[in-house]
Order: sequence, then structure tokens, then C-alpha cells
Amino acid sequence: MKINKEFETRFAKHEEELRWLYMELYNNGSMYAELCDQMREFYQKRRTDLKARDREKSKNPKWYRNNRMLGMMLYIDNFAGNLKGVREKLDYVEECNASFIHLMPFLDTVEGKSDGGYAVADFRKVRPDLGTMEDLADLARECHDRGIDVCMDFVMNHTSDEHEWARRALAGEGEYMSRYFFYDNPQIPQEFERTVPQVFPTTAPGNFTWLPQIGHYVMTSFYPYQWDLNYANPRVFNEMMYNFLFFANQGMDIIRIDAVPYIWKELGTSCRNLKQVHTIVRMMRMIGEIVCPAVALLGEVVMEPAKVVPYFGTVEKPECHMLYNVTTMATTWHSVAVQGTKLLKQQLDIVNQLPEEYTFLNYLRCHDDIGWGLDYGTLSSWQMKEVPHKRFLNDYFTGNFPGSESRGELYNDDPVTMDARFCGTAASMCGIESAGFEGDAAKMEKAIRKDLMLHAYMFLQRGLPMIYSGDEIGQVNDYSYKEDPRKREDSRYIHRGAFRWDLAEQRKKKGTVEARIFQALHQMEELRKKEAILGPDAQVCTWDTGDDGVLGLMRKYEGKTLVGIFNFTDWEKEIYFPEPGEYQDLLEKKRLEKDRVKLPQFGFLWALK
Ligand code: GLC
Repeated sequence: MKINKEFETRFAKHEEELRWLYMELYNNGSMYAELCDQMREFYQKRRTDLKARDREKSKNPKWYRNNRMLGMMLYIDNFAGNLKGVREKLDYVEECNASFIHLMPFLDTVEGKSDGGYAVADFRKVRPDLGTMEDLADLARECHDRGIDVCMDFVMNHTSDEHEWARRALAGEGEYMSRYFFYDNPQIPQEFERTVPQVFPTTAPGNFTWLPQIGHYVMTSFYPYQWDLNYANPRVFNEMMYNFLFFANQGMDIIRIDAVPYIWKELGTSCRNLKQVHTIVRMMRMIGEIVCPAVALLGEVVMEPAKVVPYFGTVEKPECHMLYNVTTMATTWHSVAVQGTKLLKQQLDIVNQLPEEYTFLNYLRCHDDIGWGLDYGTLSSWQMKEVPHKRFLNDYFTGNFPGSESRGELYNDDPVTMDARFCGTAASMCGIESAGFEGDAAKMEKAIRKDLMLHAYMFLQRGLPMIYSGDEIGQVNDYSYKEDPRKREDSRYIHRGAFRWDLAEQRKKKGTVEARIFQALHQMEELRKKEAILGPDAQVCTWDTGDDGVLGLMRKYEGKTLVGIFNFTDWEKEIYFPEPGEYQDLLEKKRLEKDRVKLPQFGFLWALK
């Protein structure tokens, strides 16, 4: 095989550690050799324009955390019908200032058994109604020309039960059965059930599925049609790495590793966050750095902070480039419901104290439910016990608590653990849906302000902001999923509605809800791109506003200070600036005369000194 200097240099840098980890996990020299050969092949097949991106991004290894970075997540069909359609809508994406788009799962899947695309039936084929692999590469190319990065889901924990491996396993081929977890009697599955929690306790209870066709149980942590892959088998690891490199070669810039904590299973454990998962992610990081260093890994770790942070690896041996700031997201909504920011401040302090290399993706909501993973140790010392507090939050956000204007639905309401999660769009949770329904202008005013305040706070946090397509125009819940028998049981579809282009048009009409939200966000995004103080090199911390209902954030950079004040309450508040000085309202572009400021209910301020 042709030797390439660039590849060999990168390979040499990691080879010792990669081999060591691979051998520790698999002790299989020939499979390791195969992996290395394939890495060379994928490198050789990599297009010149992508190799140029590799070089360019390697020169600036912090590329994924510059000021410009702002994500937008979207379902291809909901947004624009198919991949070609998305290409046609890139002007809009640019208008939204999105510097990367997360294309929600688009690989071939089985209708009615797709889990929103997270049950992949073929890793080398795009869902036919969305287009072809060529369309994907074309879209990526055009995105790159416009300076937009593309992110995709890499669902590596499981395959669809109609994936070729699963079909051959079901036909009794041992080679393929060994790629999953098969048991011919209930004993081991029962043992697993003793220590493994459930992901979908109501919609898909248990972690195993009985297959009468071959008289075996198969492990299915998620839905029964999502078969968990067995990463103890090196064939599984190798093949999935080839899939990863294949997508890198289609021009994907960010790979979102789905459900990372779950990928290694061991009897007698919770099958979450086991140390082998870190070995796998670390190897994946090195494989990427050798073959396609322009590609960044985004880990989906929906866990408490102590479990999330290890997925960054260490500064010397990094794993994921980026992780979701999930606890902050959930704590934000807790703050909205209790109109108090004490816990949020504590949570932000934890994140702000981490090494600056650790890049979090901030968001108000995503395509999944909001699980109430809060710091209950602290909350219970404040008399907020876990079960009643979760019940309160769910009552509050479903609009069943007096005074709540939020709308949405419960998800996986587990009668045993009383652990329901919540689904709804950011706008509906802020009251835009109920205000619109009631035609109540005053309520609408308040709801828009709340929605903007939350976005303004998100933009000021350390890390990168991510917007769910539709939130930029305040799109509300979509109840039509209830009429679709394939979606009816899964309330997450309430916040996965089709993008409303008709409403998006209103963004240009002054005074409409859409325009007010879109234009306000637009202005903040533009500032974020321009002002270095809003970028990754600024120091970020919280400060005490003296009022539990009002959150204070502060950014410092090159002698300048940016103060953020966010009123999470229904009341007007007067807050003193944390430091004396001459402040300017960064958004209104006007001087602030006093040493204190009055904020209306749910008002906010970005003040620069
Ligand atoms: C991730 C996805 C979620 C999906 C699950 C199973 O958590 O975000 O939508 O149901 O993985 O693949």
C-alpha cells in the first residue's frame, strides 16, 4: 500500500496508545492489523477538499469553539422534505446564523420501528425518501462552501432488528448472533434486570426481548426493535469504526455519538459509563485524529455532571470534543418553575470551574424529553424532595399548576419510580402556545419576554449555543402526532413538528410573534459573532445579584466586562451592578446612567463596561 507521509505522521503519534488500548480490550492482533489497514484505505479515499479541511482545522484545533459556532438541529423531512430541499434552504440557515446544522437521523430505518431514525437498518444507505448518499455529500459540500459544518448522529449502541446483522442473527448464524447479546434461557437476562435501569419504562419496559423464532432473548435497552451491539466482539468495534470513517468521508464535520454511556455491558453492573466505554471513545478519537482530524466528536451523555465530565477524557488524552450541558438545561427549567436561581447558579459554577478545553453545547431543549436530573442532594436540603418535586415540575410544565402558562405532555410516566419526564417546545413551555390560544396580548408579551430571556442567558453561558429549528420563530407544540399510529405512543413527537415555513415568513413582518423572537435572537447572534467577549476565550462566572429570582452572569475579556442580568420571576426587579462603572446596554446600544437597573418581569440585560 502507498505510504503517505501525512497519514503516517499522525498514525505514529497515536499508534502506541491505540495498539495498547485495542490489545487491552480485545487482545486480537489480526483484527488490530485489519483496523489499521482500513484506516489507511479510508485516508486514501478521502477527497482532496476534505483533506484540505483536515489541514486547515488542525492548524486551529479550537475551530469548534469559536464565537461563530452556533448549532441548529433539524429533521430533514420536517425542515425541507429531503436532503436536496435542505440545500435549497441554506439561505435561511445562514440567516439564522447557524454555523453548523445537526441533521437528525437520516439513515435507512424501518417505518413504524424507527425511534425517530435511531434504529438504523443500513449504515451505508440514506432513507430513500430523504435522498441518497450522494445528496448527503453534495449538501455537505455546499455547506462547506458557505462556512457551515454538518453534524450527524452516529447510533453505535444498537442496530435495527432489520439490519443485515440482526436478520442473519435471527436466522441462527452464530457469527452474527455474537455481535449482539443472545441468551437461550431467562437466567442471565433476569440477572441483568436486577442491576440495569430502564430507559423507556412505559413505552418499552425491560432490557430484553424474547424472540420466539429462535427461542432466544436478545438485549434491547431501548425499544425491542433496537438490538444492543456487543462491543466485546472486536468485529463490531471494527465495523462500526469503518462506518464512522465512511461518514467522515462523506464530509460530516461533527459526529454525535448517540447514547455513549450504554455501549459496554457487563453483568452485575448498571451497564452505564463502564470504563471500557472510555477506552472505546478514546480509540475513536484517535482513529479520527489519524484519518480525518477535521471531524469532532459530540457525545450524547444524558447523566449528572460527575458522570458527564469524564467523557471529555483528560487534556492529554481527550475523548469527546463536545458534550451536551444537560444538567444545566434541566436546571434552567427548574429555575423557571420555582422562579429561583440558586440551584442554577450552583450548577453553572460547577461548569465554569472546569478546564476551558471542555466545550459544552448549551440548549434549552432538543428532540428528546426533558428528564428532571437535578441535584436532589442540594434540593432536599432546601425541602424539595425528589419525588414530590418532580411531580411539581411535571404539573407546572403541563400547565396543571396554578399560575403556569406552560403547555406540554408527560413522557414515560413510570408508575413505579414516579419518574415521568416532560415534552414540549421551548415556546410552549414559556407560555407562547397558551397565550396565542387565549388571544391574550399581555400574556403573550410576558411569554415572549421569558423566551428571549432564556435564549439571552443561553448565549451568555460558557460553551456553544444550539437552537432547535423552529425555536427561532417560537414554534409551539404540534399535537398531530396523536393521529399517526406509528408515533402516537411517543410524546416526544409533540416537539418534533414540521417546520412552519408559513409562520417563518412572518419573521419579516414587524410586531408578529415570529418577528419579535427571530429579530431579537438575530441581534444577539450577530453580537456573539462580533464581540470577542462573547467568545470562548472570555472568563465566565456567575455573580450574586442579591435576589434569588435573578441570575447574574459575567464575562471578562481583555479588560472589558460583560454583565448579564436575567429575571426569572413574575415581578419587576431592581438590581445593582456587581461592580461600579459606566455600563452600556449592549443590545439597545445606550448608556446606562445609574449604578442599578430595573428589569421588568422576565426581563434581561447585557451590560458592557
Ligand atoms: C438517544 C436519542 C434518542 C433515542 C435513543 C436511542 O438518546 O437522543 O432520541 O431514542 O438515543 O437511540
